[in-house]
Amino acid sequence: MSTELRRAGTRSGNVTDAPFIKERPTPYSFFRHLQRAKKPSSTVGIGIIGYGYWGPNLVRNFAEQKGARLVAVSDLSVDRLTEVHARYPLVKVTSDCADLITDPDVDAVVIATPVSSHFPLARRALEAGKHVLVTKPITADPSQAMELIEAAEQRGLVLMVDHTFVYTGAVQTIKQLVDGGNLGELYYYDSVRVNLGLFQKDVNVLWDLAVHDLSIMDYLLGQQPVAVAATGSAHIPGHQVNLAYLTCYFDGNLIAHHHANWLAPLKIRRTLIGGARQMIVYDDLEPSEKVKVYDKGITVASDAQGARETMIGYRTGDMWAPQVSLTEGLHVESQHFLECVKHRRQPLTDGPCGLRLVRILEAAARSHTFLPRSVRRYCSGVVRPARMAWMPAGTSVSSLIQRSP
Ligand SMILES: NC(=O)c1ccc[n+]([C@@H]2O[C@H](COP(=O)([O-])OP(=O)(O)OC[C@H]3O[C@@H](n4cnc5c(N)ncnc54)[C@H](O)[C@@H]3O)[C@@H](O)[C@H]2O)c1
Repeated sequence: MSTELRRAGTRSGNVTDAPFIKERPTPYSFFRHLQRAKKPSSTVGIGIIGYGYWGPNLVRNFAEQKGARLVAVSDLSVDRLTEVHARYPLVKVTSDCADLITDPDVDAVVIATPVSSHFPLARRALEAGKHVLVTKPITADPSQAMELIEAAEQRGLVLMVDHTFVYTGAVQTIKQLVDGGNLGELYYYDSVRVNLGLFQKDVNVLWDLAVHDLSIMDYLLGQQPVAVAATGSAHIPGHQVNLAYLTCYFDGNLIAHHHANWLAPLKIRRTLIGGARQMIVYDDLEPSEKVKVYDKGITVASDAQGARETMIGYRTGDMWAPQVSLTEGLHVESQHFLECVKHRRQPLTDGPCGLRLVRILEAAARSHTFLPRSVRRYCSGVVRPARMAWMPAGTSVSSLIQRSP
């Protein structure tokens, strides 16, 4: 049987000519019979498009889930398909994702391809009646994300975005602390995500790295910024912005800042969340104590003469590291996706969640791109909303980000 299974044929003109495929061609449909015979239909049939850097993690996680049947994997590269076949010999492979999307054994399509291809692939899958899990960011612009949300809603299908960090034990623990009021009034959210990273071709560093922090921020704060400002630099001619600073302004005094860089000598994944009562340091590179809560802060008192001046006092309490689940975020996420498909539930990181992030990223791009050079120089890299000289008269800063309908 294994000899026959080696052949991974697709429709005419798209046969995956992997080096190991030497036997008589076996049509893609041949595998369907085998898989139908072997797997219970109560499981969710999964097809995964993209087996580059991130795709293998999704394939491994869905292959391990009891509620899933890993049916097929598609990639443009024959070498990548050869690797899939070596690890998962019963899984169909194809270089034409249409095979996978139209396969009746596939109930849900997972898309792990470059950002520019998310929209056409996800739309095609939804139109074929498949549930969709798409890697971050959901699409390359907000109107595409809106279209996917509508397509999923019209058909009663699940549309989920792979915002992996939201499903980690560390972020779940921080969420409990924030929602439980431990931090008091929130003052700031400050993240740094830098390393000597892979220069992406189709997106800049904000769309590649900062999107992780935006997804965590969106989940933890539960509110959207009213304005954003971004600066950045493309140090390598012909390449995307590789270093960027993004500031998000919220109603009240809450402010968030995200620093993302593909050109840093060391890897840093650190977030500070400051509240009036307590503060959190989240370091994703810490092996066990990823979250540390500091009972530190200030006290503000009026002077004796009658509140002409306020006096700042310093409060230094304990630091504690709550127990954090170390279960892989992608394991929790893939399980959540399967449950949402099975029970037709709205996922935690659904289409509108993906759209919120893309709106911020798009506003950031406009903020950086449209700011006149003279103003950029004058502000020496720091752009305050009040100084957004490029804004048309009568436009409010808030209008930079359209709120979700
Ligand atoms: N959640 C995370 O932590 C995380 C980490 C890395 C990447 N990602 C996301 O995963 C996605 C993929 O990133 P990557 O780094 O794996 O990219 P990659 O370039 O390494 O891999 C993409 C793969 O998709 C394949 N592909 C492209 N178009 C295809 C098509 N039409 N049909 C079949 N295969 C096709 C390519 O051949 C390639 O092997 C991106 O959206 C990225 O943002 C998420």
